[in-house]
Amino acid sequence: MQIFTSYFSDIKDINSDLITIFLYGNNRLFNKQILEIKKLLPEEIDRILKLEKFRAESESSILIYTNKSFKSPRIQLFGLGAKEKLNYESFRKASALSCLNANKLKIHNITFLLPDLPDGLNLKYLTQSIFEGAFLSQYKFDKFLTSTQKTNRLKKITLAYNSKKLKDEINSVKVKTQILCDAVLLARDLSNMPANQLNPDLLAKYAKKSAKSFNYKAEVWDENKIKKTGFGGLVAVGSGSNHPPRFIILKYYGNKNKKMNIVLVGKGITFDSGGLSLKSAENMAEMKMDMSGAAVVLATVQCAARMKLPVNLIGLIPACENMPGGSALKPGDIIKHYGGKTSEVANTDAEGRLILADALAYAHKLKPELVIDIATLTGAVISALGHHVAAILGNDRTDIDKIKNAGDVTYERVWELPLYDEYKKQIKSEVADVRNLGTRGAGVITAAMFLKSFISDKNKKEYKWIHIDIAGTAIIDEGAYYIQSGASGFGVRLLIEFLRTNFK
Ligand code: BES
Ligand code: MG
Ligand code: ZN
Repeated sequence: MQIFTSYFSDIKDINSDLITIFLYGNNRLFNKQILEIKKLLPEEIDRILKLEKFRAESESSILIYTNKSFKSPRIQLFGLGAKEKLNYESFRKASALSCLNANKLKIHNITFLLPDLPDGLNLKYLTQSIFEGAFLSQYKFDKFLTSTQKTNRLKKITLAYNSKKLKDEINSVKVKTQILCDAVLLARDLSNMPANQLNPDLLAKYAKKSAKSFNYKAEVWDENKIKKTGFGGLVAVGSGSNHPPRFIILKYYGNKNKKMNIVLVGKGITFDSGGLSLKSAENMAEMKMDMSGAAVVLATVQCAARMKLPVNLIGLIPACENMPGGSALKPGDIIKHYGGKTSEVANTDAEGRLILADALAYAHKLKPELVIDIATLTGAVISALGHHVAAILGNDRTDIDKIKNAGDVTYERVWELPLYDEYKKQIKSEVADVRNLGTRGAGVITAAMFLKSFISDKNKKEYKWIHIDIAGTAIIDEGAYYIQSGASGFGVRLLIEFLRTNFK
């Protein structure tokens, strides 16, 4: 799908299957706006207002067939509700719903008229939000559908504006938002891919392909290099599968200042059966999406490289399949991780932290300014926060707040949970430095505490670190607006917004 912009002076000259006009729902404004439109289509608007009682309430819409003086055959009036109450998310939802309405008409392109700006919002981000909602609403994982159900999708979204001054600004937003949305779809596609289509090696190949296309570097370690380097967690978790593990390193240097290295770590379990601590059959299929963190890291680095952001990003992706094969990791096993720390495996289904531990310990070598790991780590985060908000934990107040702010703008929201020392007791082991299973309660926190034990060097100095648990937000059962059921790509817009606003 492609997004476009165009200047118009007369709405009648816009040539599109459907023109969508956003209308504010507060009464005085509504009357004023509708009078303008009535000038164009007096009879139609009169009739419709009488029959439908349309008042531009939030999410209400009405379809009008135009007359011969218009190049476009249809206009959709789309209600936004009270102007004072709108935020960027209101516009994402409104443009998404407008497009979903358009799908019912079986048409292929839609043109939005740029609405005038509500107080407190800026034009750039408003434009971005309209594009995001529209673009992302049209995603469906249909690579493997051979039937013709694919056809009812929009191919072209246009934003039309009628002030020539806006041209450059709106065009630059368009170019960047197309890049961003492409990245979100890459993350969704990779996550949705079933495990027989996306094993660790294939994931590495996607990374190579992206790096080659967009001018950054991807290095891939095979199982021998992983073993030799001492990534005990990745070796152990991958050992029950016929598909060997991979370790993927992405490098994008957009800033000459080496001190600005930001490391992103993504959990890349291409399938999580639970291993010998086998999961129940119910919902096990969802675990093809247990590499969503890895997908976010790859998509974010790709996006940053294409946008040429002035940051240095290093993506680390430990990738393997968690299976109960003959040589699988067993409960009770003790693992030696990169850097030398050991862990006791009390439950093979708590595998994510075992592979992240190696990557986090390895991150020291990169002298990072900040390390962010993102992972579908615990079912407990779903109990705590459901599917709308991800958990964020870390050791740096300022960066947590910055990511929270990015979350409020993008609506990929995060909520902080504490990492108090008292929780350490819950992952204490008698036989190793840490245990991968916490005692009862605070499952999100004990998982993060496990990770935290790998972020300090020999002198006990920790780097700045943030952990984001996306188990609830990456995988969506019931889709709505611009996220349909399946993988959401949650995290890409969040991280890009964080990077764009804080590293200029
Ligand atoms: N991949 C799962 C977490 C998960 C659950 C992701 C639901 C998405 C949806 C993770 O590897 C896991 O199995 N965690 C266990 C940990 C437990 C054994 C300590 C869990 O949450 O049950
Ligand atoms: Mg698991
Ligand atoms: Zn898992």
